[in-house]
Amino acid sequence: MNIVTLEDLKVEEIENILLLAQKIKSGEKKIDYNGQKVVANLFFEPSTRTCYSFQMAELRCGIKRLDFNAESSSLKKGESLYDTVKTFESFGTDAVVIRHSQDKYYEELIGKINIPILSGGDGKHAHPSQSLLDLFTIKEHFGKFDGLKVAFIGDIKHSRVAHSNIEVMQRLGMTVYTSGPEEYKDDDMNFVNFDKIIPEVDVVMLLRVQHERHEKEMGISKEEYHENYGMTMSRVAQMKSNAIIMHPAPFNRGVEIADDVVECEKSKIFRQVENGVFVRMAMLNTVLG
Ligand code: CP
Repeated sequence: MNIVTLEDLKVEEIENILLLAQKIKSGEKKIDYNGQKVVANLFFEPSTRTCYSFQMAELRCGIKRLDFNAESSSLKKGESLYDTVKTFESFGTDAVVIRHSQDKYYEELIGKINIPILSGGDGKHAHPSQSLLDLFTIKEHFGKFDGLKVAFIGDIKHSRVAHSNIEVMQRLGMTVYTSGPEEYKDDDMNFVNFDKIIPEVDVVMLLRVQHERHEKEMGISKEEYHENYGMTMSRVAQMKSNAIIMHPAPFNRGVEIADDVVECEKSKIFRQVENGVFVRMAMLNTVLG
């Protein structure tokens, strides 16, 4: 089994991973492969949370790791993605975790690589482990998905987090809105005015402006962005009493989020990071058995 996009998973399969993660977090379920499994972490793009969260999940599951360094690898001699992954399969690794800048990079691997692939994010397309930890954090707070309203604010167009989450959240019965600069709007995604939607929603999901995926400079200054689309304490005051703020991170203080909002009472940002380890342990257990 691979987990490369949640679009491939049925609601029941998603719920099973979240339930397993919850049992791991509560201590009801223990996973210990006792060094009998080896997972290779192949990050072809920079990462702090996803890469080290998978490493922590592997440590906690008693899995041995191979941490690939793209900069000092034979990629520099022109080796392809497929040949790199096939090499790790040939070493005898039991699964690979891959992050790559190419949308749907996994399509060239599936059917030819015979070990499970867990995606740590592909281009602008999908980020399944992030979506699962976001869902886990929402369920932990609200106890349900159905009927909740979520607003994604920012660079929707270039965000794999938004694309992954919007698809699965709608499937789980949530109403999704998007907002932010017009230049980062994605088609047909319920685009609304930020200040008008804040009092309506249960979750405000802020997104980083993905400068590394832009062909041209952002059309507005960071100050203008913060003024129009940044989460400030005055906007926090407009939220429903039980509503929460989320961000996949890394975040830009003073741009999409004010410094004092990052760890305010409504913010679940570091809870998302904490939950990511339990969710990734559940993902590893799901594919490794
Ligand atoms: N949220 C997330 O994917 O962060 P990293 O890029 O640091 O992994």
